[in-house]
Amino acid sequence: MAKDQDALTAAQFGAHAQAYVQSAVHAGGADLAALTALAAKAAPARALDLGTGGGHVVYALAGAAGAVTAVDLSADMLAAVAAEAERRGLSNVETVQASAETLPFPEARFDFLASRFSAHHWRDAPAGLRQARRVLRKGAPAVFIDIVSPGAAALDTHLQAVELLRDVSHVRDYSVAEWRAMLRDAGFAVERCETWRLRMDFAVWTARIGTPAPLAEAIRLLQHKAAAEIRDHFEIEDDGSFQLDAAMFLAVASEG
Ligand SMILES: C[S@@+](CC[C@H](N)C(=O)[O-])C[C@H]1O[C@@H](n2cnc3c(N)ncnc32)[C@H](O)[C@@H]1O
Repeated sequence: MAKDQDALTAAQFGAHAQAYVQSAVHAGGADLAALTALAAKAAPARALDLGTGGGHVVYALAGAAGAVTAVDLSADMLAAVAAEAERRGLSNVETVQASAETLPFPEARFDFLASRFSAHHWRDAPAGLRQARRVLRKGAPAVFIDIVSPGAAALDTHLQAVELLRDVSHVRDYSVAEWRAMLRDAGFAVERCETWRLRMDFAVWTARIGTPAPLAEAIRLLQHKAAAEIRDHFEIEDDGSFQLDAAMFLAVASEG
């Protein structure tokens, strides 16, 4: 029987938990450094990381916050994060298995929130963002980082297609405009948005989530047959490596 969306996502990631703990793309980046600096400035009592994956945001927040709560759909991912936090000597990290859309916390529980490279996997991103706002104290900082769609229809279609072929649980890479609207509707005021590009090494990108070989070949065929504008935008290389657009939204919990 087919799994529902949350179970499919949890299974996809759970099977590759260690790959995400070890992933160089996730463990580094100027965005993670900026997030760490913001957390250090805010010095929150309770910070929340939504869609914690290999836990790189949690490890960064643990030095700045009184306590950090890591939320993820995947129990395997959370077990890997708990083990890594212990290995690093971080004693203020708790893990909670939940979906972003149904957070098991009271209102205004947290005074800092981060979510990095996760919301494009959520079955209902607007609902997850409303939950994020609900559990955050008014005026608290929230940092959302994700892969974004370039917006233009043909580029968007190509991006969602290769993402879905790579990971059958892919939901949607939203454009910056879509992100801004979702954040506003959820009760966040965006103070700053920064964008950059991330090079995906094709072999590493597909191995990390275990893309079956025929689907990886289908991505290569799509790339090969793509229009010049698409090849140019994503800077597709001979081995299939390419550039993704990413964005960081620095927001404040405003309404409510
Ligand atoms: C790419 S990983 C996150 C990377 C991590 N935040 C980092 O910075 O290294 C995506 C994670 O989001 C989780 N996820 C996907 N959908 C979710 C949802 N609806 N609620 C909570 N977690 C979710 C997946 O299980 C996966 O572990």
